[in-house]
Amino acid sequence: MTKRTRIIAVANQKGGVGKTTTVVNLAAALARRRCTVLVVDLDPQANATGGLGLERQQGVSIYPVLLGEAEIADVIQPTAYDNLNIIPSEVDLAGAEIEIARQEDHLSVIRQALAPVRDSGVFDYILLDCPPSLGVVMTASLAAADGVLVPMQAEFLAMEGLGLITNLLEQLRAGANPSLELNGILLTMVNMVATQTKDVIAMVKERFGDRVYETVIPRNVRTSEAPSYGQPVMHYDPTCKGAVAYRAFAKEFIARTPTRFDETVEPVQAGPAAETPPAAMQSAAEPSDGQNADSTQETGAEQ
Ligand SMILES: Nc1ncnc2c1ncn2[C@@H]1O[C@H](COP(=O)(O)OP(=O)(O)O)[C@@H](O)[C@H]1O
Ligand SMILES: [Mg+2]
Repeated sequence: MTKRTRIIAVANQKGGVGKTTTVVNLAAALARRRCTVLVVDLDPQANATGGLGLERQQGVSIYPVLLGEAEIADVIQPTAYDNLNIIPSEVDLAGAEIEIARQEDHLSVIRQALAPVRDSGVFDYILLDCPPSLGVVMTASLAAADGVLVPMQAEFLAMEGLGLITNLLEQLRAGANPSLELNGILLTMVNMVATQTKDVIAMVKERFGDRVYETVIPRNVRTSEAPSYGQPVMHYDPTCKGAVAYRAFAKEFIARTPTRFDETVEPVQAGPAAETPPAAMQSAAEPSDGQNADSTQETGAEQ
C-alpha cells in the first residue's frame, strides 16, 4: 500500500459560505474513517482553530514557518480527536498578507512550508482553510494545493462569485500550478424548501457537471451551534442532519480523492496462473485499509 498526501484548499473569496464549517466537519469525518488529517487554519479569525477546540496561541501558526522562524513540525498540534491534527491560526496571520507579498517567490511560500509534511507521508489529507479574500494567502494556498474545494450557497448571487475563483484557478493552471484541479463544488446551507434552491443546483450542475458533489449540506441549527462548543458537529450531535450530511460527504470525497493505492496485486502471469478466475483477483485487490470501512453508524434519526 502506498500513500499519497493530498493537499486540498477549501476556498471561496466570499465569507460566510461554509468554508470553515466544511474544513472542520470534513476533517472530523475523514479522521473517523481512519484517514490521517492535518487542518491548516489560514484565516486570522481562527474559526477552524476554535471549531476544533483549540485556543489561539501566539507563535503557534503557519506564520512563523512562512517567515522561516519556526519549523513546521513544531506548530502541528493534536486535537481531542484521533487522526486529526491542526496548525492553528493567530492574529499575526493578518500581517502575513503583507509579509508574504514582500517575499520574492511569494506564490510558493505555502507549498514550501508544507513540503516536509507532505514528503513525510504521515497525512492522507492536508486541508487548507483559506481566508475570505482573493489575496496572496488564498492564491499561495491554491498554488500549494492538488485540488480546490469550493463551498457555495445555493443562491443565484453565489454563481457570480464562482466565476472569480474559477478564473483564479485557470490563472494558476497556466502558471504556478499546472496540475491544480477543481476538486469539487459543495453546496452548503441548503434549504430545499426555498424556491430558488433547485434551480441554482441545476445551473451549477449544468456548468460544472460531475465536479458538483452529489451530497449537499442542509442548513442545520446544530451545525451552527457546534463551533461554540469547540466540537465538530458529528461529535456534538452525531445524529443531526448536518452530521449525517458531512459523513456522507466525506465518503464521496474519499472516493473522488483517494490517497492510498494498493500495489501488491501481481499482474496476471502467463501459464496455469492465468486461469485464476477474475472474481478471485478482484477480491484479492480489494483495499484493506480503513478508507473503505464505514466505521460510523447511520441511525437515520435525523432532526
Ligand atoms: N450547514 C449549516 N447550517 C447552519 N449554519 C451553518 C451551516 N454551515 C455553516 N453555518 C454557519 O454559517 C456561518 C458561516 O460559516 P463558515 O463556515 O464560518 O463560513 P466561511 O468560513 O466561509 O466564512 C457560521 O456561523 C456557521 O456556523
Ligand atoms: Mg472561515
